[in-house]
Amino acid sequence: MALLTVEQLKIKFRAGNKYQQIVDGVDFSVRKGEVVCMVGESGCGKSVTALSLMRLHNMQFHKQKGCAQEGKILFHDVNLMSLSEKDMRKIRGNKMAMIFQDPLTALNPLFTVKYQMGEVLKRHLHMKKKEAYDFSASLLEKAGIRDVDRVMNAYPHTLSGGMRQRVMIAMALSCDPDLLIADEPTTALDVTVQMQILECIKSMQKRMNMAVLMITHDFGVVAEMADRVLVFYMGQIVEEADVFTLFSNPLHPYTKSLIGLVPNHREYKRQRLEPIKGCVSAIKETGEGCRFRDRCSYAGECFRKDNMPPLVKADMGHKVRCWQYETMPEGSESYGCHAEFI
Ligand SMILES: Nc1ncnc2c1ncn2[C@@H]1O[C@H](COP(=O)(O)OP(=O)(O)O)[C@@H](O)[C@H]1O
Ligand SMILES: [Mg+2]
Repeated sequence: MALLTVEQLKIKFRAGNKYQQIVDGVDFSVRKGEVVCMVGESGCGKSVTALSLMRLHNMQFHKQKGCAQEGKILFHDVNLMSLSEKDMRKIRGNKMAMIFQDPLTALNPLFTVKYQMGEVLKRHLHMKKKEAYDFSASLLEKAGIRDVDRVMNAYPHTLSGGMRQRVMIAMALSCDPDLLIADEPTTALDVTVQMQILECIKSMQKRMNMAVLMITHDFGVVAEMADRVLVFYMGQIVEEADVFTLFSNPLHPYTKSLIGLVPNHREYKRQRLEPIKGCVSAIKETGEGCRFRDRCSYAGECFRKDNMPPLVKADMGHKVRCWQYETMPEGSESYGCHAEFI
């Protein structure tokens, strides 16, 4: 059963007198205990989507709405979009927690680790000071910190990047969340520490049977962590598949290019990586066809199509948004993929 179901999520930000569409009709779900990775280049709307799940966008901006949101976010079958801020606060940091790319900006530099961890436990679990201290220390230990007492009494800026991220993880997991949202948790760390942090998240995820929604642009992280993958491009999901299918049979030209850009360290011969031409641009307001067509190396007839390709089922659990593919009607025995180029 789905723990989180997102239906037709649309997010716009105000830019001057107009609204700019950033997320445009995103649908996905996350099951209990599942690790789902969101991938895509910078600026595709991954973080905006994740922040909207926690309702962290500032909806009021100079008395006019700075951000407009549509769609449904069902968490434990409750639509978070319709909750009051007071009810949302009971879920945020409790049953749904988040860790960010840069733990230094997420942690408060003016307070010690023990104070910041204690705050969460006092607010959500109503613990007393001593109980909160002991519980925080045990969480830090589970997150792989050895000199727990020193870290508990430290200010965030005196810790290394990896330590800070471990503190963030321990803090996020303190209320035993059902869903952990991790927005590029290892991007700011060096490679050896990255691996340790991923292992830390993975072991905590298994131990607590928690679902993880992880944002990354690193296919190494995807291969390491994901059960299922959502590929984002310009505010939409362009492909969704389980991790094995995505790597063995990517369908969307964008996914193929992203995977093709991962250097292969096992082959010792020199290899030239082909960058994807162009860059992510702003979403055009009207009259657009496939959003990837200007950068697509396969695009043929699709150039003439003015409407957007729908997200279609290519196979069981495999969806793709590209004019190259058609599906068998739903309900038929097998979802065959007609993979001829148009
Ligand atoms: N608070 C905001 N106000 C206006 N535009 C924003 C805001 N946050 C993000 N954006 C824009 O939304 C787009 C998607 O951003 P983001 O979700 O951060 O991308 P990414 O996929 O790299 O995480 C970017 O073009 C960014 O400039
Ligand atoms: Mg981001």
